[in-house]
Order: sequence, then structure tokens, then C-alpha cells
Amino acid sequence: MEKYQKIVHNKNTVSQLKELAEIHPGRVAFSTSFGLEDQVIGHMILSNAIPIRVFTLDTGRLFTETYTVWKETVEKYGQTIEAFYPDTTEVEKMVTQKGPFSFYESVENRKECCNIRKVIPLKRALQDVDVWVTGLRAEQSSARSNLAFFELDDAFGLVKFNPLKDWSFNDLKIYVEKHNVPYNKLHDKGFVSIGCQPCTRAIKEGEDFRAGRWWWETSAKECGLHATRTDEPIIKVKKI
Ligand code: ADX
Ligand code: SF4
Repeated sequence: MEKYQKIVHNKNTVSQLKELAEIHPGRVAFSTSFGLEDQVIGHMILSNAIPIRVFTLDTGRLFTETYTVWKETVEKYGQTIEAFYPDTTEVEKMVTQKGPFSFYESVENRKECCNIRKVIPLKRALQDVDVWVTGLRAEQSSARSNLAFFELDDAFGLVKFNPLKDWSFNDLKIYVEKHNVPYNKLHDKGFVSIGCQPCTRAIKEGEDFRAGRWWWETSAKECGLHATRTDEPIIKVKKI
């Protein structure tokens, strides 16, 4: 794990990403949901042509504004962003049996939908990957407050790199403005953390960063992508 310690000591995020790509050629992947965090990391990777795969999970329930910033990002950087989709049979079975809004009816149904539309496709996207780069930040929630730059994620059997762990939402806004990075226009309408359209709302002043995600639920607001970070961890995250 010494090699990661060395990277952490390099304070420049672009250099950190470059070093990582050199250590694991062809085996580093960045997942983007086109939120502000991911647009910052995406800009660093794509504008510097760092050889890190960039992919997104299209759940089929995203906002039109998310598809727009996706398109703008591809046009600006002219590089490939891989799209991963849920298994058609699984979605058809779930929606046929339970209807298009089953996730509002129970936490179990909501987790089933997240599992089919996000977690299973993520597993496919992370096949043959050693290091998974994410836009997680410590400020986002109490479950994420103890985030490390590098973590062993046993759920996916790899190392996770969270380069923006100490960035504030304001830091992201300043970076995006300074570098003219395309961003999701929902951020101008009170949306901070943006996921699927039926499961995301804008937040009001004073509300938590993730209050707009699965707002009707009171349990830990995680969907399984970062399952090891919930308040009820399935598998413990080991910090490096
Ligand atoms: S979630 O677990 O609640 O959905 P969140 O929206 O906070 O996660 O995003 C945290 C990180 O997870 C993002 O920076 C990104 O790396 C990854 N992520 C979340 N949703 C997606 C998606 N639809 N496609 C690809 N990566 C995603
Ligand atoms: Fe389904 Fe909502 Fe999860 Fe999206 S966020 S996968 S629509 S339950």
C-alpha cells in the first residue's frame, strides 16, 4: 500500500490521477453521474487525456438535464464515455410485476430497483478494474465523513480512490467556473446531489446535502454503489 501513500503525498489531483494510471495501466476506471464532483474529475482526466476509462450508469430514469450535460461533456472533450445499462429482462420483470414507481412503496422495493438499475451494471463496469475513481466527498453525509483517499472496497474487490474527499461544494463551483466546465443545470435550481429523476428533489436552505435523495425514506441514504459507506456496513471498509 506504500505506492498509494506516495500518491496521497502528491497534493496535485491531476498528478495523482496520472500517477495512478501509470501504476495500473488500463486498469483504472472513473464512474461519472455528471454531478459537480464528477464534472471536476472528468475535466481533469479528459482535458489532460489521462488514460483512465470513464463510464456512466444510465439507469433509464435520469433527468433530461443529466443527458444534456452528458452530451455537452462528450462534445467538449471529444473522448469516449462508456454507457452501462441494466439487464433488460430484470427491468421488464420488475416493472411488469410492480409498476413504474415501485420504489416509493417500500425500502425493499427501492433497494431492488437500485440493485437492478445501478449496482449490477456497476459490477460489470468494474470487471478487470484495479482502482475505481469516484467523486465521493466527506462533506456529503455523516456516513461519508470518515472517507479516506484510498479505501479497500471488499464489495467490489478493488481499491477505491476518492480524490475530492476534502473539497467543499463551493470549491467545486469555483473550479467549474474557472475552467469553464459543463455542468448539470439542475445545480442552478437548488439540486446539489443528483441521481434518478423520481428519487431526487432540490434541497431547501439548511437541509443536509443528501436530503433530496430518496427524501421519503428515513434510513441511510445510500443505494448500494457505496454500500460499504452506509451506517449499517455490510462489509467494512479498510482505510489505506
Ligand atoms: S449514490 O450512491 O448516492 O448514487 P452519489 O450520487 O453520491 O452516489 O455519487 C457518488 C459517486 O458515485 C459519484 O461521484 C460517481 O463516482 C458515482 N456514481 C453515482 N451515480 C452514478 C452513475 N449513475 N453512474 C456512474 N457513477 C455514479
Ligand atoms: Fe430506481 Fe430510484 Fe434507485 Fe434510480 S434511484 S435506481 S429510480 S430506486
